Amino acid sequence: MKADETKRKREILLGINPCIYGLNYHDPAVVVLIDGRVVFGVEEERCNRVKHSKGVFPSLALAECLTYCNLTWDDIDAVVIGYEPALWMNRLNLELLDIINPFVSCVSNSIQIRGSEIVEKIIRTNIVDRYTFFRSQENVRKLIIEKCSALETTKVMFCEHHLAHIASSYEVSGFSEAVGIVVDGIGETAVTTLWRIQNHQYEKILQIDYPNSLGYFYAIATKFLGFEPWGGEGKTMALAAYGKKNKEIADRLKSAFTLNGAFYDVSHFMHNHNAGFLMMNEDELIHELEALLGFSAREKDASITDEHIDFAWFVQDYLERSVIRLINYAVQKTGIVNVCAAGGVFMNCKMNMVIRETSEATNFYVQPLSSDIGLTVGAGLYHTSQKHRFCMNSLDLGPEYSDNEIEEALIRSSFKSIVPIDLASTVAEFIAEGKIVCWFEGKMEMGARALGSR
Ligand SMILES: [Fe+2]
Repeated sequence: MKADETKRKREILLGINPCIYGLNYHDPAVVVLIDGRVVFGVEEERCNRVKHSKGVFPSLALAECLTYCNLTWDDIDAVVIGYEPALWMNRLNLELLDIINPFVSCVSNSIQIRGSEIVEKIIRTNIVDRYTFFRSQENVRKLIIEKCSALETTKVMFCEHHLAHIASSYEVSGFSEAVGIVVDGIGETAVTTLWRIQNHQYEKILQIDYPNSLGYFYAIATKFLGFEPWGGEGKTMALAAYGKKNKEIADRLKSAFTLNGAFYDVSHFMHNHNAGFLMMNEDELIHELEALLGFSAREKDASITDEHIDFAWFVQDYLERSVIRLINYAVQKTGIVNVCAAGGVFMNCKMNMVIRETSEATNFYVQPLSSDIGLTVGAGLYHTSQKHRFCMNSLDLGPEYSDNEIEEALIRSSFKSIVPIDLASTVAEFIAEGKIVCWFEGKMEMGARALGSR
């Protein structure tokens, strides 16, 4: 049998997080799956050196994937995307509500509607044309093919955003039966979902929609604290560790962020503060928070006050309690004690620790690529016809470089370099002297928590 015939017999999928046309927004990436196994993957930010690469199609990552795996478009069975155009009409409903709400008021028990302003805004946002076009899988398929420079005939398969997230976790968790939880900013409309999963069959048991988003809640709190939202959330999490329960802050925020039984509710606060396209109006929300708290948001690089630190504590505590209640609800409802999780909010490792220690989950698995990077893996594993277990033992999935290439890069960078005789001892000495050591070895690691191999 010829080599290329062997290659054709394998099922080869490309998982892409496109980050254009409203198909997600940040962390563009591509992975290659062969026969249900992730064999290579890289984020666009590692290729173009722009952190999170918001709104950028992962062209460079795609080229890396095809080159490294020696693939042409003839070899690709399908491109898989963690977003479902068929759900765009549900999104339209929410976007219309967002547009209409500010122009509707209740005066003396009668409803007042400023119709002309509503129509004007609908025209301005081009909402009808946008939805007419993007609800069609075929239209989106053609756009993706064009961006990929793929063959006209290349198949594109879609997967609901939260389904791709949870498949990225369940399919590598080792559980045959599990409860799944996804918490993020927003998918198509969903911001939180719970799943019952048995033998690769997924049943959604709860969906919470925008604007009741814990991801948005944490992002806006991060901005309030002077850090970059959708990237600086780890700083809020770390700052919270220095804080304490502050009764005044809790009292001031108790009507905005509530917990009722199993369910959190941040929608009173998030509502009516949209900037269109179901995105937050960050400035309005910051002003709203300042009014509620009675102190100012922190400017970037300004000193951090005790009030800011205690606010971070409140935000982290509220998040942990919200997610633990949801997990306990799912465990009690299904009787299943294996829990797998994904979605950007599960990048919060402190929360994950508290879940492991205090929730009713006996076994808890978190996909390390929990942010939208993981959609590439999840959409691929969901659609693969090979439903065997793929053990995700390592995230070292990216390109690697020869010693010569590394040496050339060091010379170009003008960094001083040495080749120590005893590498381990030399590094240990540097650390003992208080120096910072960067370690670069083997394949590039995927994910925001990549701590080794580079
Ligand atoms: Fe997501």
